[in-house]
Amino acid sequence: MELQGKIALITGGARGIGLDTARRLHNEGVTVVLVDVDETLAKAEAARMGDRALGLGADVTDQAQLDAAVAEAVRIFGRLDIVMANAGIAPPIETVRTGSRDAFDRVLDVNLHGVIRTVRAVLPELEKTRGYLLIVSSLYAVVNGAISTPYATAKAGVEMFGRSLRVELAGTGVDVGVAYYGFIDTRLVQDALVKPGIDEMRSSFPKFIATPVPVGKAGKATVEGIRRRAARVTAPGWVRATLPLRGLLHYLDGRMVRDDKVRAAITACESSTTR
Ligand code: NAI
Repeated sequence: MELQGKIALITGGARGIGLDTARRLHNEGVTVVLVDVDETLAKAEAARMGDRALGLGADVTDQAQLDAAVAEAVRIFGRLDIVMANAGIAPPIETVRTGSRDAFDRVLDVNLHGVIRTVRAVLPELEKTRGYLLIVSSLYAVVNGAISTPYATAKAGVEMFGRSLRVELAGTGVDVGVAYYGFIDTRLVQDALVKPGIDEMRSSFPKFIATPVPVGKAGKATVEGIRRRAARVTAPGWVRATLPLRGLLHYLDGRMVRDDKVRAAITACESSTTR
């Protein structure tokens, strides 16, 4: 797809992967709408970009706010060609057994239902332009999500939502892609890395998986995926190899069940929470 002149809306666009992608799209001549619960930051980042950028406040847990943001973007720019359903929050790093029910449900509300609400808000506009929709999932849709269970559950749901939509929308002209990122160095990951149990869990992973990579790797891969209207976007590069291997990766769950480092991670995060 020729990017120059397109209109893109990105939820969670005020920071991290969403912002990096927005900046890169903007540099290619795309008009960007940053939609974020942090309205002040979204407006400030849009102002920093200058022309062809708009920051809007909306919480993806609120359908009316999302509908209003989309209506405002269309009122100003006339249409939407590209949407990235990207807003997300880190999981609390707890187990289901001792963790907070409210925190678990909140992650599902933002990371899964927030994506579904976003799609409901934008789909009529994307149908008009035969546009491209990118849904942000994670490597956690593929690998075991222990101690990040609500996050991984949401991301697996988001992945299937995107895959199913791609088939349902075939024939409408709207293409749907799913993004899978490994550990990317953003606030979301930095906040999670300081929580009890994370060090132990990371030490059970190969180092190349557990080491966060600069956000630009995700932004660059995402822009290339948008240009290709890709079914799958991955970053860093090795994440792509996990997708065809996913059946085999299920067998690593058995290894995790027996892994002392994983047990230590569970003990560490459970001892920091009360049932
Ligand atoms: P980030 O924390 O830097 O940025 C997330 C953005 O979403 C922030 O601007 C935040 O204000 C916004 N946001 C949070 N809750 C919101 C809500 N209720 N309504 C609207 N906006 C909201 O995080 P990052 O890393 O850029 O994450 C972006 C997406 O990428 C998320 O969906 C995340 O799950 C996903 N992802 C990130 C990975 C990583 O390693 N950083 C790995 C895999 C997926």
